[in-house]
Amino acid sequence: MTEGDLRALGEQALEEIAGAGDVDQLELVRLKYLARHQGLISSGAQALAQAPSEQRAALGRAFNSVKQGTEAALERRLEEFQLALRELAAEGQWLDLTYPSAPLPRGHQHPLGRLIREIEDIGAALGYESVRGPEVEDDQFNFELLNLPPEHPARDAHDTFYLEGPAGWLLRTQTSPVQLRTMMAGPPPYRILAPGKVYRRDNPDPTHSPVFHQLEGLCVDEGVTLGDLKGTLTYFLQAIFGEERRIRLRSSFFAFTEPSLEADVSCWFCQGEGCRSCLGKGWIEVLGSGMVHPQVLRNAGIDPERYSGFAFGMGPDRITALKYGLEDIRDLYENDLRLLENF
Ligand code: DAH
Repeated sequence: MTEGDLRALGEQALEEIAGAGDVDQLELVRLKYLARHQGLISSGAQALAQAPSEQRAALGRAFNSVKQGTEAALERRLEEFQLALRELAAEGQWLDLTYPSAPLPRGHQHPLGRLIREIEDIGAALGYESVRGPEVEDDQFNFELLNLPPEHPARDAHDTFYLEGPAGWLLRTQTSPVQLRTMMAGPPPYRILAPGKVYRRDNPDPTHSPVFHQLEGLCVDEGVTLGDLKGTLTYFLQAIFGEERRIRLRSSFFAFTEPSLEADVSCWFCQGEGCRSCLGKGWIEVLGSGMVHPQVLRNAGIDPERYSGFAFGMGPDRITALKYGLEDIRDLYENDLRLLENF
């Protein structure tokens, strides 16, 4: 093989490289010219060994330059193909396995759970511990120890699901029994928040559901006054509904508090002007509360001469429905993702 033959082979290889239509064809060209022993150019190495010594140096230089030129051309052509592939992929015509996958859809908190957690966080900053009580309760805890004996008229409003089994078992109609469970579990002081599900035999409609939520608060210590109740509720309610809200306390009745109060917040839709959400009143009722009845303290084994306290209970469902303008409270329980994704 002469230097001329080698150069001619190089030219031919370059033409075939340029003419290769894809990566596979290019690989065939590479093998044809550069396969280790049989490649048309590689086999020039044997010719080099046999060449007369005076030609060997020139032939060697030609061999190296043709081989390197061919390799470089192969490399460039391969890059061209890869670039073209990436362009195709960008046009969506090719599956690029190195392309990062679409992000997985992320879940988020249910608006009701979020409100409850928000309130628990506000309470935690004031030293209120979050606790949970059982949903299957006993008549004693749900009613009697809360000053609601069997003949008490307020029981009618708590249309109760009684359970089969030991007498007195029921689904709790309120979270207030957690007050007693807390007080009976250890000595005062207590500062607790107890959110959870409660049950009543209500027919489901846009404002009623047989299962809904309450969030109970209890604070008992030496020297707790009605002023503390007012200050604490104002702090909680402004933290939840906005600092600019006004708070109004109205006298009310609950068997387990004396005195009993209901708290209204100035309507956060119309700033108290009167609108559809507050039914023209300018105020929205958000919770019941009062000073813990001395008899309830006594029922829990606590001396009402030494300790006093206040309690409150609110309905997170109605607040959430109002907050998001939900017309139907049942939307909060049906877990229709199409709806929940909006919050
Ligand atoms: N448990 C009451 C209810 O279901 C709400 C309530 C009112 C809770 C006053 C309280 C309270 O702790 O002090 O209607």
